[in-house]
Amino acid sequence: MNSDYVISLRNVAKHYPIGDGRFTALQDINLDFSQGEFSGLVGPSGSGKTTLLNIIGSLDSPSEGTASVLGKNIATLSHKESAQLRNREIGFIFQVYNLLPVYTVFENVEFALLLQNRSEAERKKAVMDALEWVGLTHLADKKPSKLSGGEGQRVAIARAMVKRPSIVLADEPSANLDARNTHGILQTMKDLNRELKTTFLFSTHDEKVMQYLERIIHLDDGRIAQDEIVHAQSTPT
Ligand SMILES: Nc1ncnc2c1ncn2[C@@H]1O[C@H](COP(=O)(O)OP(=O)(O)OP(=O)(O)O)[C@@H](O)[C@H]1O
Ligand SMILES: [Mg+2]
Repeated sequence: MNSDYVISLRNVAKHYPIGDGRFTALQDINLDFSQGEFSGLVGPSGSGKTTLLNIIGSLDSPSEGTASVLGKNIATLSHKESAQLRNREIGFIFQVYNLLPVYTVFENVEFALLLQNRSEAERKKAVMDALEWVGLTHLADKKPSKLSGGEGQRVAIARAMVKRPSIVLADEPSANLDARNTHGILQTMKDLNRELKTTFLFSTHDEKVMQYLERIIHLDDGRIAQDEIVHAQSTPT
């Protein structure tokens, strides 16, 4: 397996059993991503975007083919190794950002670090750095119910980035945001991508998100219809 790529997919297919037969959600997926890419999966609802992100995030495994993440074939990892890969190397941002309501913003971000052996002082520094990246240090002690949608999604970005993962997978992160907040969070992610060399992979329907992507992979009925390098506008409107 080629370890020059942070993500390598070879002939990946995903089938789901239905009735007597099976439904093919992904087929003939061959993709490589280098460190620091800022790319996205686009395509109609049901085209397989979330399924593919879940395979790359080792939340799911391919029915056929191989998916390698940071040089590891995810199908061969033990339960523990796969959990370690997710805990250390992969940050997830979802459409519904699932902040824990009884905890503060600080605690929600810190939560990602409790699975790692870090001292309280190290955790505090890491959380405050992550909140600073997204411009929310002043809201550290607030509960999620007191935040706007854009602020909540920023906390979700901080939570994904606090571990300084190699890869961030963002599944329709702008679905609940207005235009201003969408541009704000995309600019923040782009800045983190440049500064920390984090590899970002989105799924999106949103033209506003697409403006920021450097590579767009079109999925159609579980297959790659087009894989294009685009030049992101430096200041999208
Ligand atoms: N666990 C499952 N069992 C059976 N079929 C599934 C399962 N998960 C997903 N599918 C099917 O696989 C196809 C791809 O689903 P997926 O969620 O990846 O699409 P998507 O591109 O993310 O769509 P959306 O834009 O609506 O989020 C869909 O037709 C879906 O119904
Ligand atoms: Mg989806």
